[in-house]
Amino acid sequence: MPEEKQVIESNEFNRREFFVKLGLGSLSIAACGTAVFAYQFLSPNVLFEPSPIVNAGKPGSYPEDSVTLDVNSGIYLIHAKEGFFALSAVCTHLGCLTAWKPELGIIACPCHGSKFKRDGEKIEGPAPKPLPWLRTWVSDEGDLMVDRSVTVRPMEFVRV
Ligand code: FES
Repeated sequence: MPEEKQVIESNEFNRREFFVKLGLGSLSIAACGTAVFAYQFLSPNVLFEPSPIVNAGKPGSYPEDSVTLDVNSGIYLIHAKEGFFALSAVCTHLGCLTAWKPELGIIACPCHGSKFKRDGEKIEGPAPKPLPWLRTWVSDEGDLMVDRSVTVRPMEFVRV
């Protein structure tokens, strides 16, 4: 009889031990989930935007009387006989990327047909404003720099 009681106690102990381990496992999983959510909650939810400053390279890489579209930064680098200037390539209507049409000598928007002169002045179409001129300068290293966040008055050429 004592042996039978011991077996019952042993089973009872195993069952208790099982439930204790099950409880500890559940708590561990819950603690891990809480830690993950706490980390996500506490880490900053920040969007990193690229710098508005564009290094357009050496002025010598732009032949005179050329219009160069930089698709990645959305700017035109124009080397006119008066000097260099940069235009935003983003249409002032609804923000499509415009394209230089060398055969016509104009900048055209593929979305709704706005057309601009090489200096950004609007020719026709629904665009409400000309393409803005962007601040352009030459760095100490001799590179053409453009700040896409700053517009300047037209006809502010950079002479190199
Ligand atoms: S977005 Fe350029 S004309 Fe509409």
